[in-house]
Amino acid sequence: MDGVIVIAVDGPVAAGKGTLARELAARTGLRHLDSGMIYRAVAALVLEAGDDSGDGRACRRRAERLVVADLERPGLRDQKIGSMASRVAAHRDVREALVGFQRRFGRTPPGAVIDGRDIGTVVFPDADVKFFVTAHVRARAARRHRELVSMGETADFGNVLQELSERDRRDSERAWAPLRKADDAVVIDTTKLDAAAAAEKALDIVRHRLGAASVLS
Ligand code: CDP
Repeated sequence: MDGVIVIAVDGPVAAGKGTLARELAARTGLRHLDSGMIYRAVAALVLEAGDDSGDGRACRRRAERLVVADLERPGLRDQKIGSMASRVAAHRDVREALVGFQRRFGRTPPGAVIDGRDIGTVVFPDADVKFFVTAHVRARAARRHRELVSMGETADFGNVLQELSERDRRDSERAWAPLRKADDAVVIDTTKLDAAAAAEKALDIVRHRLGAASVLS
C-alpha cells in the first residue's frame, strides 16, 4: 500500500487484541490506533447529550463532531460505556462517518497497527497483514474482570461474563460490518498464550510476510 504498512488486528471483547496491537506497533515502529476508543468516545458523547442510542442519525451527528481530544476523555474504559459503544457501533450511519478517520490514520506514513472488529474486513480489506485474535469466553471474562478490579471498579464475575457475551452477540449479529474473521486473517488463540507469547507468534508472522527488517530487534 504505497510504502505505508497497515496491520489489522480484529477480535471479540477482551481477546488481547489491544495488548497485541500495542506491542506490534512498538516492535515495528508503526503507529497504533485502538478503534474501540473511537466508538467509546462517540458513546460517551451520546450519553452526555442525552441522545437515544437507538437513533442512528442522532448518533451519527455525534460521530461527525468527534475530535482526537475526545479519545482522551476519562472513563471511556468503563463497562457502561463499552456496552453503549456496541449499541452505537451497530448503526451503519455511525460506522460510515468513522471510516474516513480510521483510513486517514492508517495511511499516514509509516502506517499503523489498528485493532478493532472490522479493520481487516471493511476499513482496510487490503491490509498487509491481518490477525484475528480470540480466546474462550470465560478466559476473556476473567481477564476483563481482573482489569476492572485493578482499575478500582467493583465488578462481579457473573455480570462481566454476561455483559461480555451480550456485547459479543451484538457485535457479531449486527447487519452492518459485523465481527467476523477475514478470509486471509491469521488466527491467534490467546486462551493459553500470555501476552508475550502471543506477540512473539504475531511478530514471526510479520517477519515472514514483510521481511525481517520490518521488526525492530
Ligand atoms: O476492549 P474491548 O474489546 O472491550 O472493546 P473495544 O475494542 O474498546 O470496543 C468497544 C465496542 O466498540 C465493541 O464492543 C464494538 O461494538 C465497537 N467497535 C466496533 O464496532 N468496531 C471497531 N472497529 C471497534 C469497536
